[in-house]
Amino acid sequence: MEKDAIITAIDVGTTKVCTLTAQVEDEQNVRILGVGIEPTQGIRKGMVIDIPLAADSIALSIKKAERASGLQIENAIVSIAGSHISSINNKATVGIVGGVISKEDIARVLESVKAISIPSNRTIIHTLQRTFSVDGIDGIRSPKGMYGSRLDVEAHIITASESSIENLRQCIMTAEVDVSQFVLNSLADASVLLTDIEKQMGVIVCDIGGGTTDLAMFINNDVWHTNVISVGGNHITADIAQAFHLPTKQAEEVKKMHGCALPKYVDDEEYFYCRTFGKDEAAKFSRKQLAEVINMRTEEMFQLILQEIKRSGYDNLLPAGMVLTGGTALLPGIDKLGSDILGMPVRIAKPERMTGMIDQLNGPAYSTAVGLLYWSMLVQESSPEETAQGNKIVTVGDRVKRFFRMLLP
Ligand SMILES: Nc1ncnc2c1ncn2[C@@H]1O[C@H](COP(=O)(O)OP(=O)(O)OP(=O)(O)O)[C@@H](O)[C@H]1O
Ligand SMILES: [Mg+2]
Repeated sequence: MEKDAIITAIDVGTTKVCTLTAQVEDEQNVRILGVGIEPTQGIRKGMVIDIPLAADSIALSIKKAERASGLQIENAIVSIAGSHISSINNKATVGIVGGVISKEDIARVLESVKAISIPSNRTIIHTLQRTFSVDGIDGIRSPKGMYGSRLDVEAHIITASESSIENLRQCIMTAEVDVSQFVLNSLADASVLLTDIEKQMGVIVCDIGGGTTDLAMFINNDVWHTNVISVGGNHITADIAQAFHLPTKQAEEVKKMHGCALPKYVDDEEYFYCRTFGKDEAAKFSRKQLAEVINMRTEEMFQLILQEIKRSGYDNLLPAGMVLTGGTALLPGIDKLGSDILGMPVRIAKPERMTGMIDQLNGPAYSTAVGLLYWSMLVQESSPEETAQGNKIVTVGDRVKRFFRMLLP
């Protein structure tokens, strides 16, 4: 993307909508010109359940970002999550006539790897290409000109329910903004959080937000697996509300102020005060008990994540461990708990590499919004080496360009 270009990203989360308008400084940095953060309404577990309510909160967030930047937003790149998302890996093979792989052979194999049959109510949101293999030798990034009789390629294909996508598009269009692209939460996170070495070695990015947990595995610089699990911080809050007889709003505050994912980090003698249902005076609670409630749910969440990692079959290919983000990553002790359950290193990450209006964006809850900006830079940045029937095939180049090789759907 050219220097000084203006881009807008909207992260529609279960708890907050975050609109960012930014200017591209260079291929590594953005300057944030406008920020609009608004509590979300009408979204549950990442999906729209009430169009007018969701549209209102999205419109308010857009207006805030417009006022802050003094710019009118016409189109935006938008995050997507929810249990309606699913993914599969697909493989395609072509025979090579003449012994030398041509650009047409590459186009043919890429075209056929995209050809999967999906139900009519689903749509492909990403087709992420992996490396090629020539005559069974894999890990080849640019097979053009190589000798061989067989060319294979694998791709990770992410699909979504068309109605869920259209409902979200409708909400954004109500604010007179067009959606230029939908991007899976975890892929946006990865664009800003992961290092080159992590992606090369094998890493899983995990965004635990309010209503969803979004996962993406990177191995050899490619996306090998993605998944969205419908659990998040809201479940922890609900457990606290239930256990201590608190209204949700108060349970949320208690979690943020006194919460901890590991009871052993908390002293037996630590207490906090809070008003329960039906009482006029604040009651005294043990912080250790709070940690125990949080621990149970958080442990269950990591067990689900572990199951998913095992289900992918790549559990032994993640030496760089997990990069944990999303608002729930702020819970003290969550990294240690995650690391113990998953048996891998866990680091907590938040967005960096930006200038401008960044005060409100200093936290793991903003990884997706900032990541969307980087995603759009990376995709635009990459130069098409081949063009097959209008599909841009993004190829490896410099550090940034190497990030995603994809066939735009
Ligand atoms: N200090 C904190 N301690 C514990 N939890 C926190 C803290 N701050 C925020 N959270 C939790 O983080 C969650 C919100 O995270 P985030 O903003 O990433 O979610 P979202 O993007 O709106 O939702 P999603 O991505 O699931 O659709 C809430 O459940 C909130 O309670
Ligand atoms: Mg989120």
